[in-house]
Amino acid sequence: MLTPKRLFLATAVALTLTANWAQAQDNTFKIGLILPMTGQQASTGRQIEAAVRLYMAQNGDTVAGKKIQLIIKDDAATPDQSKRLAQDLVVNEKVNVLGGFGVTPAALAAAPIATQSKTPLVVMAAATSSITDASPYIVRTSFTLPQVSVSLADWAPKNGIKKVVTLVSDYGPGIDAEKFFNQRLTFNGGQVVESLRVPLRGPDFAPFLQKVRDIKPDALFVFVPSGAGAAVMKQFLERGMDKAGIRLIGTGDVTDDDQLNDMGDGALGVVTSHHYSASHPSAMNKKFVEAFQKANKGMRPNFMAVGGYDGMRVIYEALRASAKGAAMPTGDALLASMKGQIFESPRGQIFIDAQTRDIVQNVYLRKVEKKDGQLYNVEFDVIKDVKDPGKTR
Ligand code: PHB
Repeated sequence: MLTPKRLFLATAVALTLTANWAQAQDNTFKIGLILPMTGQQASTGRQIEAAVRLYMAQNGDTVAGKKIQLIIKDDAATPDQSKRLAQDLVVNEKVNVLGGFGVTPAALAAAPIATQSKTPLVVMAAATSSITDASPYIVRTSFTLPQVSVSLADWAPKNGIKKVVTLVSDYGPGIDAEKFFNQRLTFNGGQVVESLRVPLRGPDFAPFLQKVRDIKPDALFVFVPSGAGAAVMKQFLERGMDKAGIRLIGTGDVTDDDQLNDMGDGALGVVTSHHYSASHPSAMNKKFVEAFQKANKGMRPNFMAVGGYDGMRVIYEALRASAKGAAMPTGDALLASMKGQIFESPRGQIFIDAQTRDIVQNVYLRKVEKKDGQLYNVEFDVIKDVKDPGKTR
């Protein structure tokens, strides 16, 4: 029989259980990543997920007494999906941080949700300069196309490349690359004689490359997103463009470490500029590459992986710095602790500029070379601490 005493005890137990449950809920810090796990950009999702899981394996899943929960959602790089998933993660899952974003349109679609809900959004891949202006809650750990393109435009004319045709994917990052490469090359006394734009989805490079062959510039400058570089390289070589004396140069997206080793010896000698190479010769990077390959059946990390790995570092340290006692830090407190972070990444020293919330980092000039029977982007020069030239502030 339920005597008053028993009723009291039962209620007390129930209340305690509820309180414990609520505390367990409160004690979980949720990171919601939106990534392209399927479709044309799937390699970006695969690389970032592997890097994020490696970071968690190395650094544990408890930070400042909070249990970290990772939720990964596949947007197939489709902005409608990115927006819907961001909304769902914020409203239903109540995530503390949003992250990932394989392509620019995905990041731009989710930006208003970050603003409205005051949720920090860490862009780990997308690289159009203007993304950080789309919300005051956006922080970036990838790179920007202007950042890497200007360095190549400084290098080219000093190395016999004056007349260039540009070929870019026809959307945000491609247009940034085209504009900033052209401006800087012209400033340096070179000339872009033709600017070609190819569709983002399922591009056929053949007619564009034929045109380049007819123009016969000193070099073809290329930007295509991670995952599309091998197709450009293949068609460039098949058409004998290199034999016709046209050099291939570009941002490091073209000689992506995810695909480079399968591109064949035709890729040897290709010069690119980028913020990360798997062969970056630092002790930290050697350890990173080794651990990444060990955990992922030999897969080589590319620049997307590094954006994910460092993004997790930014989130973990922001939580550590802003957590006070049992309470969960607010989005604003987390954001404040993300701004100004400075640390060593596998790519070298990086810095989150507190004003722009964008990344300041080294840009390297690299040449494809063979080392131990494998193709690598071997760094031969560095421009230190490059801010995004796309920011006018
Ligand atoms: C982008 O959509 O912003 C993007 C995607 C892949 C890249 C670079 C930029 O390699």
